[in-house]
Amino acid sequence: MTNEQMAKELKGLVQLDIDAIRAYQQAIDNIDDFTIKSRLTEFQQDHRRHMTDLSPFVTRFGDKPPADKPDMKGFLIQGMTAIRSKMGTEQALKAMQSNERLTNRNYREAASMAWPADVLLVVQRCADDERRHLEYIDRTLQTRPWESSGAHA
Ligand SMILES: [Fe+2]
Ligand SMILES: [Fe+2]
Repeated sequence: MTNEQMAKELKGLVQLDIDAIRAYQQAIDNIDDFTIKSRLTEFQQDHRRHMTDLSPFVTRFGDKPPADKPDMKGFLIQGMTAIRSKMGTEQALKAMQSNERLTNRNYREAASMAWPADVLLVVQRCADDERRHLEYIDRTLQTRPWESSGAHA
């Protein structure tokens, strides 16, 4: 890959993280279950770390990291997540499931590209985080723990 291609690819990942952070906030604000809320807050923090870790590589490859604001896709993602999250925990999780499917697809593709070793290490670590996020959301939608935790239903 040329420096230009690498910068472009990394900018795309950082933008996805920016959008994910905002989408997570919508879900977090609308979920009452304490355990689920805390896990989603951790995942949001992972996305912040991805931004911090990947942005310097964009600079190294001669470009500027994206500003911390949503692009058009980000606005759609955030808006859709906000609307669904107001309908309750299940819809909030379903919205985040579809958002995480998108980030997983992109990070998985990125992890298979020909990066310098140090960049590859970071991209792979981020891709592993993304897989964990989606696995948790999939499992939580299957087991529906918020239904049995009557104390804060
Ligand atoms: Fe990420
Ligand atoms: Fe994620």
